[in-house]
Amino acid sequence: MMKVTIFGTGYVGLVTGACLAEMGNHVLCVDIDAAKVERLKCGEIPIYEPGLESIVQRNHAGGRLDFTTEAAPAIAHGELIFIAVGTPPDEDGSADLQYVQKVASTIGRHLDRYAVVVNKSTVPVGTADRVREAVAAELAARQATVEFDVVSNPEFLKEGAAVEDCLRPDRIIVGASSERAVALLRKLYAPFNRNHDRMVVMDERSAELTKYAANAMLATKISFMNEIANIAERVGADVELVRQGIGSDPRIGYSFIYPGAGYGGSCFPKDVQALERTAHAHGYEARLLGAVEAVNQQQKSKLFELISRHLDGKLAGRTVALWGLAFKPNTDDMREASSRRLMELLWDAGAKVRAFDPEAREEAQRLYGDRDDLVLCEHAMDALQGADVLAVVTEWKAFRSPDFRAIRATLVVPAIFDGRNLYDPLVVEEAGLAYYGIGRGRSLQVA
Ligand code: UDX
Repeated sequence: MMKVTIFGTGYVGLVTGACLAEMGNHVLCVDIDAAKVERLKCGEIPIYEPGLESIVQRNHAGGRLDFTTEAAPAIAHGELIFIAVGTPPDEDGSADLQYVQKVASTIGRHLDRYAVVVNKSTVPVGTADRVREAVAAELAARQATVEFDVVSNPEFLKEGAAVEDCLRPDRIIVGASSERAVALLRKLYAPFNRNHDRMVVMDERSAELTKYAANAMLATKISFMNEIANIAERVGADVELVRQGIGSDPRIGYSFIYPGAGYGGSCFPKDVQALERTAHAHGYEARLLGAVEAVNQQQKSKLFELISRHLDGKLAGRTVALWGLAFKPNTDDMREASSRRLMELLWDAGAKVRAFDPEAREEAQRLYGDRDDLVLCEHAMDALQGADVLAVVTEWKAFRSPDFRAIRATLVVPAIFDGRNLYDPLVVEEAGLAYYGIGRGRSLQVA
């Protein structure tokens, strides 16, 4: 059992805290948002994430997981103090480190015995040094001689599978320059090693870059595939067959080569841009990363262009049914979601939207609740009432095998715009609907 403090009860902080408590550690989570802390103490989870609620409730009831707004006792509690606060992009796409810096200073103001400060937030290369300086500056200001180490330990969890990813990591990256700190992290993570040691120890800068490199590589695979999709539709090929054809090569693999309406979420868009900015700040123009971002931007407008062409550019007064608001299935997160670009383009063109999402209804209400050109529906088929066409933007399982004949009977202009290539074009067309996918050759007729 180790004593762990975690600053930040956002996605990463809360999941990490709950999973470390599940392994028997005593975890105290700190957040400045008092209302959120109160809700968490009552077992209420502010985000939708499969399995998170039960693991938080179980460990809170078991006395291994608690929440507080008070930094000083939390810093006194932890031999390992995690920083898991947000690093939102600032105007130029660089990661904004003000929250990380603030926590580091707070730690420096209260630390009174050796601890390891563990950085879990996704932070630009060199941040471990800045955290070390911020802690040291506060210690010096109060003439305290307390030893501490700073470690970079980036998180690789996926929304929708975060608890599982955290409990069964494929690797644990630890960037550290002190044996003492590495030993403590080995002890913490020992229960997470299945079959073999999952911990990869390196220097702090390499650990920080590893996180960006992983996300940028995955985003690159997606943009690459979207580029192939755009070529496929122009040459009359079906990218879905191409995907299977190349995925069978183990050097390429099947994962993250699904073409679609672009990637969203809190990581890929932000991290690709931040890495580009880091490179630029160090005198290197990362042209590939710029292209990955540009292709994604273009791809997010793809469904709108297909719909607009199908309706001869006459969108004013039309209604589009939209299935899927979240940036991907199994989450209610709409950050950078492709659905948002589609809706905003439709609204600008004078169209209305009737949308359904199994989980993101509340989030959409929060973001766009005051609009009268958006109706948020309770059921998938409700979204089709009075709608001209249907656009599918998120690949929720519930959308995979709909009743195409019922869709055909409900839509005014029977056409499906399949932003995730969920359907067999022939099956859709047999039901009397026009089918548009991403890179499926048939789009050739409108290209
Ligand atoms: C990602 C990384 O996967 C995770 O390791 C990291 O810690 C945080 O960022 P996440 O943002 O939760 O996780 O979502 P992910 O499942 O990776 O999907 C990101 C986006 O890419 C989604 O919008 C998804 O629809 C899109 N995507 C994914 C594709 O368009 N095609 C694919 O083949 C895979």
